[in-house]
Amino acid sequence: MTDTPKSRATKSHGSPASRAQGRKSIRPTLQPRELMTDTPALAGAWRAQVLTLFPDAFPGLLGESLMGRALKDGLWQLETYDLRTHGIGKHRNVDDTPAGGGAGMVLRADVLEAAIAQARAGAKGVMPLIYLSPRGRKMDQALMQDLARADGVTLLCGRFEGVDERVLEHFDIMEVSLGDFVMTGGELAAQALIDATVRLLPGVLGNQASTQEESFSNGLLEHPQYTKPAEWQGHAVPQVLLSGNHAKIEAWRRAQSEEITKARRPDLWQAYQGRKTSE
Ligand SMILES: C[S@@+](CC[C@H](N)C(=O)[O-])C[C@H]1O[C@@H](n2cnc3c(N)ncnc32)[C@H](O)[C@@H]1O
Repeated sequence: MTDTPKSRATKSHGSPASRAQGRKSIRPTLQPRELMTDTPALAGAWRAQVLTLFPDAFPGLLGESLMGRALKDGLWQLETYDLRTHGIGKHRNVDDTPAGGGAGMVLRADVLEAAIAQARAGAKGVMPLIYLSPRGRKMDQALMQDLARADGVTLLCGRFEGVDERVLEHFDIMEVSLGDFVMTGGELAAQALIDATVRLLPGVLGNQASTQEESFSNGLLEHPQYTKPAEWQGHAVPQVLLSGNHAKIEAWRRAQSEEITKARRPDLWQAYQGRKTSE
């Protein structure tokens, strides 16, 4: 197998060990040097830069199924930046105790600055800088659509008690949360953001129409889905879906979507109603 731009869609900047992360897409004999080669063929592909203490956690699930195929096909590219390589001293320390005291450790401003500078030096076009954080704006489909229209994104994954606040202010970093709970690190949130964004890029999903019909795309939750068998455990697939009458099916689905949204998400329903009256 020869090395192709496809097999170089995943790059990592940092420790030699972390360079093996793209092994699904990189032939085993590929040397780290080759991984660092510029990839002009991928110049226009949407890019995710991830700053993390755990580069080996990538691509993780992003290397599987449709997302993994799109990565290999060069529809998007993934770069990891190992925070540890910017650590201080012979132990490469990346964190220190909180100013003013208190529990835990905080990622150092100077370490983060060096990692951010390295990543941003390679960033091209519009690539928002985001810190995954429970304090941030909650992820939603509108954010993913905005990010999919950009050239890519730079994601900072925190650990311990988080990052030195001055870095967020200095680089004017947007904080984005996966939800109202606390995880041990930002990596899972980064993967969720990348997955939800990349699937919106042209060519990633086999059937692009599914991103137009699914939950949130039109401000509503999705209607129920059914498949075979037509009768299961005494429950039948709704007759209208087997009728072959596309207009009726569409009307039924829309009515179901509206009913479910109204019952489960009054906030979305209100916003949807507001948009409809202003149209
Ligand atoms: C233990 S958390 C730090 C929590 C922080 N001390 C607080 O109370 O807000 C460590 C890291 O996990 C990530 N993280 C935790 N929960 C998250 C969430 N809900 N969304 C996004 N990132 C999260 C952040 O990057 C954070 O810096």
